[in-house]
Amino acid sequence: MTVVAPDATTMRAVLGHFASGVVVVTASGPAGPLGFTCQSFASLSLDPPLVTLSPARTSSTWPRIRDVGVFCVNVLADDHERYSNGFARSDTNKFAGVAWRPSPSGAPVIDGVCAWVECRLWREYDGGDHTIAVGHVQHLEADASRAPLLFHRGRYGVEDMRRTA
Ligand SMILES: Cc1cc2nc3c(=O)[nH]c(=O)nc-3n(C[C@H](O)[C@H](O)[C@H](O)COP(=O)(O)O)c2cc1C
Repeated sequence: MTVVAPDATTMRAVLGHFASGVVVVTASGPAGPLGFTCQSFASLSLDPPLVTLSPARTSSTWPRIRDVGVFCVNVLADDHERYSNGFARSDTNKFAGVAWRPSPSGAPVIDGVCAWVECRLWREYDGGDHTIAVGHVQHLEADASRAPLLFHRGRYGVEDMRRTA
């Protein structure tokens, strides 16, 4: 088997095989609501209750969320593709047409999400061209009636590869 040196294209192509959900990380900034789309979200620890996410060093939104210090992770539902794309566009009014309510700390909870997890920024570590942000969970809730938005190989949804019997 040929081992290919992991350039960025190969990294994306191979690691894209790991299917994941999609979240929008939000906060209530001094100049209004803030948010960006993120796929690198995971639960980390139960006690203390911690989660992680990895913002790119190029993100213009994350530094502003970091300054607020409290954020909400919105787990998108399967009919939220437009939110995933909308919150991924820099320098646009990302909340235009988005219905939301405040979490206990005031961070936006987008209507119809599968779950939301409100966090206080706990630690942040070097992660190469990203950082690894650890959130200390303050409040969280789920709606079991909602199916998740999935992302796999650069596209929304998972190709049905189940073998027929
Ligand atoms: C499906 C999807 C997953 C993404 N995952 C991440 C991620 O894990 N970390 C990240 O920093 N950006 C991720 N992005 C890109 C950011 O959403 C985008 O660069 C950011 O919103 C740019 O806006 P900003 O300059 O306002 O931060 C993702 C985008 C999409 C569409």
